[in-house]
Amino acid sequence: MRRLLLGLGLMAAILSVPVNAAETARLSIDASKPGAKIDRNLFGQFAENIGHGLYEGIWVGPDSPIPNTRGIRNDVVTALRALQVPNVRWPGGCFADEYHWRNGIGPAGQRPATLNSAWGGVVESNSFGTGEFMDFLQQIGSRAYVSVNVASGTPREAAEWLEYMTAAQPTALAKERVANGHADPYKVDFLGIGNESWACGGDMTADGYLSQLKIYSHFVRNVNPAQQDSNRMLKIAVGPGEPETEWTETIMKAWQHHDWTWDIDGLSLHSYTLPNGWPPSTPSTGFGVEEYGKALKSTLSMDEFLRKQEAVMDKYDPQKKVALVVDEWGAWHVALPGTNKDFLIQQNSLRDAILASLNLNIFARHADRVRMANIAQMINVLQSMILTDKEKMVLTPTYQVFKMYVPFQDATFVPVAFDAGTYKQGDVTLPRLDAVAAKDASGKLWIEITNLDPEKPIGIEAALTGITAKSAKAQTLTAPAVNSINTFEAPHVVEPKPLPVQVQSGKLLLQVEPKSVTVVSIEQ
Ligand code: AHR
Repeated sequence: MRRLLLGLGLMAAILSVPVNAAETARLSIDASKPGAKIDRNLFGQFAENIGHGLYEGIWVGPDSPIPNTRGIRNDVVTALRALQVPNVRWPGGCFADEYHWRNGIGPAGQRPATLNSAWGGVVESNSFGTGEFMDFLQQIGSRAYVSVNVASGTPREAAEWLEYMTAAQPTALAKERVANGHADPYKVDFLGIGNESWACGGDMTADGYLSQLKIYSHFVRNVNPAQQDSNRMLKIAVGPGEPETEWTETIMKAWQHHDWTWDIDGLSLHSYTLPNGWPPSTPSTGFGVEEYGKALKSTLSMDEFLRKQEAVMDKYDPQKKVALVVDEWGAWHVALPGTNKDFLIQQNSLRDAILASLNLNIFARHADRVRMANIAQMINVLQSMILTDKEKMVLTPTYQVFKMYVPFQDATFVPVAFDAGTYKQGDVTLPRLDAVAAKDASGKLWIEITNLDPEKPIGIEAALTGITAKSAKAQTLTAPAVNSINTFEAPHVVEPKPLPVQVQSGKLLLQVEPKSVTVVSIEQ
């Protein structure tokens, strides 16, 4: 009996928190001061026609031995459903400005083989086209963000694509869609008017793009009867890819005085984590803490990038009608050795998970203006959620972060005050800690805490006001090393696990592990 009591005492000591924390961080969270809605579209994804992103990653074809539904692999669909992916951007990226939609409709055997000149010059079978994309969205429960071809297409081509997808009346294009197996009009929730028009999307000046934008915005119509009022398609203009604000100035200044002929609902922004600049040179495996520190430093510059653009947008749009849409973000590492460098294949480590959480937290803090984002990319390309190799599939550390953040979708931002401290890695100085909080529709409070320090745990003492906290639960994502990865052979190395947490007299007590992402839910 004495032994049992000792044993229980020991267990209580292990479960009580904080334990051996090198330092304690005090957070103060006031749930009575709600901020902006953290739009669920901030958790959107990007699926471009690159390498094995669509082909093999999503599409295996109906005759494949890999289990599939109408050609779309079932394992990937099941995994993505768990993320509640709010929107998927397709077909590009640079590919969008080379894509001609007519090649991707009609009976499979009759679609032309073309070239994917944007990404490796490989043969494009066009087996994954409009119908397959829409089917994929329906299977994973997501919404369409379609980017139209501005550089090598025409306004007419884009307008006809939208009519093909959205017309309910018996027009020739709608009849073609019906003949291709879809009687009802498709919903297109978001329309991207071009992509990186200052580079691969036509190398235009801001003024040159503005003229195109006005034409596409006017003539490319969504005529789906179900999308004429509250479910209106939102139009997103090309925005900047670097912190300079000239492009944003040009578009927003013109928008301020726009007339009935054109309008936009969003301005896009692209920012990749490239610690050594362009071209990408950081390895996605086998790196050390120095490269880890540099990557986090680089990722944190997202905040400044957003601030600069927001200042310009606030000048011309103080009511924040136009959203800032970060429709390409993530870590861009050097392609894995032995792979086609144009396929942008990289591994995904705990480092990527931590930098994903830092970006999602930055977006949450900017939620009044930043209302949509798309990580690049969904499967087998750049910082992906999922890696596949023929019939094998593995969920990446970044996938795990997106899953942990599901409760933050459409939750209301709650301010968190804290002293982040500092963590030094060589020449790089970083905050040791990051945190955000939000209240979901049921009133439950969610807190996310990222410990950037790869060596030291942090004791957390969070004072909660504006709610009566009864109990809490926590999940944490960490791994033995910053470069830990999930592989087909060892898929569970970086996976969330429960973490002890206590609520005592209105305070939340826990200890977050080094290099970790932790999500806590508070029961009231
Ligand atoms: O995501 C890969 C590429 O990065 C996209 O095609 C392009 O828009 C960006 O430069």
